Amino acid sequence: MSSATGAGDGDGSAGAGGSAPTAASVANRLGNAPSFAEMWRELLPLGRDSRSGGYRRFAWGGADAECREWFREQVEGRGLAYEVDRNGNQWGWLGDPEAGDAVVTGSHLDSVPDGGAFDGPLGVVSALAALDELRDRGARFGRPLAVVNFGDEEGARFGLACVGSRLTAGQLGVEDAHRLTDADGVSLPRAMEAAGYDPDAIGADPERLARIGAFVELHVEQGRALDLSGDAVGIASAIWPHGRWRFDFRGEANHAGTTRLADRHDPMLSYAETVLAARREAELAGAVATFGKIAVEPNGVNAVPSLVRGWLDSRAADQATLDTVVTGIERAAREYAAAHGIDLDVVRESFTPVVEFDHALRDELGRILGRDTDLTVPVLGTGAGHDAGILSGRVPTAMLFVRNPTGVSHSPAESAGEDDCLAGVRALADVLEGLACR
Ligand code: GLV
Ligand code: MN
Ligand code: MN
Repeated sequence: MSSATGAGDGDGSAGAGGSAPTAASVANRLGNAPSFAEMWRELLPLGRDSRSGGYRRFAWGGADAECREWFREQVEGRGLAYEVDRNGNQWGWLGDPEAGDAVVTGSHLDSVPDGGAFDGPLGVVSALAALDELRDRGARFGRPLAVVNFGDEEGARFGLACVGSRLTAGQLGVEDAHRLTDADGVSLPRAMEAAGYDPDAIGADPERLARIGAFVELHVEQGRALDLSGDAVGIASAIWPHGRWRFDFRGEANHAGTTRLADRHDPMLSYAETVLAARREAELAGAVATFGKIAVEPNGVNAVPSLVRGWLDSRAADQATLDTVVTGIERAAREYAAAHGIDLDVVRESFTPVVEFDHALRDELGRILGRDTDLTVPVLGTGAGHDAGILSGRVPTAMLFVRNPTGVSHSPAESAGEDDCLAGVRALADVLEGLACR
């Protein structure tokens, strides 16, 4: 984003909120709504680490609370009905939520460790700005509309992505959610409680899903397809199947100076060999495999480790390929572990099958956006996970991508130009208008 918005310059109470506002009452309140650029500027400092320049907005922590408070203010400032659902997802409603067949848009405000400014927030800010744009156009809605901020999309703290939407969709059981813990041993229920939410309330929310007729999530592209095609905005076709696996290599702690190499049971060696095997297997299959997080015990410079725990994230275009890759990595890991006298446990911590976005909705988006003659809309697949992917099994779901010239994501280098962001807002407004104003 250019300096006009100040973004991307390398430095990105529970309960229903009163009676549902009408389009006319919202139009009055929206008069002073902050612009896209103003909203972006307000969000930029929240949870940003001054050393890395990246964002550390982790579920139910301090920065997350600031972002959530910001979202509440934006919703209430526009006269939308604010509510927090049983899983902590935040909603702003225009029209009667109980009427059903609502058109919902939004994304998430949490981040990975040292994440970029755009992954998530672009979808939330664009959703609010698109509503403002529709107000300016004098749009009259035939369906309820809502803006949503899903909780804990990245899974940075508790290791499981899309916790808010998974719980809502019934893809994550309450007992499993209650067992999630962060690196400090704080459980999800205790973290929610500390943030002022009731962990006993969490669980599947079919009534809420039944309100939704269509969900459209706008997201920064996490690759360079749009940059290469020369388009500002694209429509998603599918999300690759993906999952997270925990590899526990257990050996024997010992003195780094006095233990003969031949006498060691060093789990770091099998771990290191497994990382290389993951790269090889992924390359062979045209997939991706990443060990991006590791924990070592006792974690002393002068100690042979007793435990190396590595988390594998792997994704592929189809399930069979992903299975082949992960099976190959596990087989190699077991061979290396056996060679070094190491015990190995492999646990699948999460899995999301392939998502094909709703064809009818996708085609409708194409038709709506095709009306705008200077906007081409390439259809793209993605290896990244999204709340839209979780909801897609339950409600018609679509995604719009906004060009990211670096292609980089989950890093402070993630970016999008101001003109492209505003093109994204217009495209989203066109889509909402096309879907909700017929
Ligand atoms: C979330 O962004 C993921 O793809 O892991
Ligand atoms: Mn992400
Ligand atoms: Mn995201």
